[in-house]
Amino acid sequence: MLKEDGAATGGRLKILVCVSGGGTNLQAIIDGIKSNAITNTEIISVISNNKKAYALVRAAEEGIPALCISPKDYEDREAFNRAFLKAVQAAGPDLIVLAGFLVVLPEEMIAGYRNRIINIHPSLIPSFCGKGFYGLKVHEKALERGVKVTGATVHFVDEGTDTGPIILQKAVAVEAGDTPETLQKRVMEQAEWVILPKAIDMIANGRIAVEEGRCIETDKGGCS
Ligand code: GAR
Repeated sequence: MLKEDGAATGGRLKILVCVSGGGTNLQAIIDGIKSNAITNTEIISVISNNKKAYALVRAAEEGIPALCISPKDYEDREAFNRAFLKAVQAAGPDLIVLAGFLVVLPEEMIAGYRNRIINIHPSLIPSFCGKGFYGLKVHEKALERGVKVTGATVHFVDEGTDTGPIILQKAVAVEAGDTPETLQKRVMEQAEWVILPKAIDMIANGRIAVEEGRCIETDKGGCS
């Protein structure tokens, strides 16, 4: 279980993973649990907004309960939000992990799961983040700007877009001749698949708390 400040209260952390696409970050979490890089954690459910997401295949292969809730199947956004929130509540997670989930969350959900929702973003926040920055677009913008270093960030989700308390970040070098695709692949391999499992493990083992809008590592005295 998690308290409102993000600290664990003991027991196995039940996580719900929300996905939209390929699900390589979901795979990194699955692999992390299998290899014990992530401890005290179980994936109780996967929710996708996209029926064709390969992440759903990855979940099925592992026997993880998975479902698709697509905005296309609802008459308006409010009806989708209600159905989505209902499914989340029915799953009963301690922690919700947005692993490439490209849907804006209902505000009610953010308020109801304060410091219990985390997101992986493929840049070093506050660079290349916010509205319109997702997936490959983030790397296109980084290359356009000519940055020499980029990376990834895991953060708690608040009402803003990519504005919540930062848990972990990892830098990745931009190389000559990079395309958005090669940069995306390197950022995933060197940063995302490392820091997302690590952040879950830290939360599951009570090593992260949020104080005054910032993350602190509770037994080491600061986010690393
Ligand atoms: C990842 O690069 C993730 O950081 C990004 O979508 C990709 C999903 O890949 N998320 C965002 O851009 C959120 N703003 P995956 O489905 O293979 O994990």
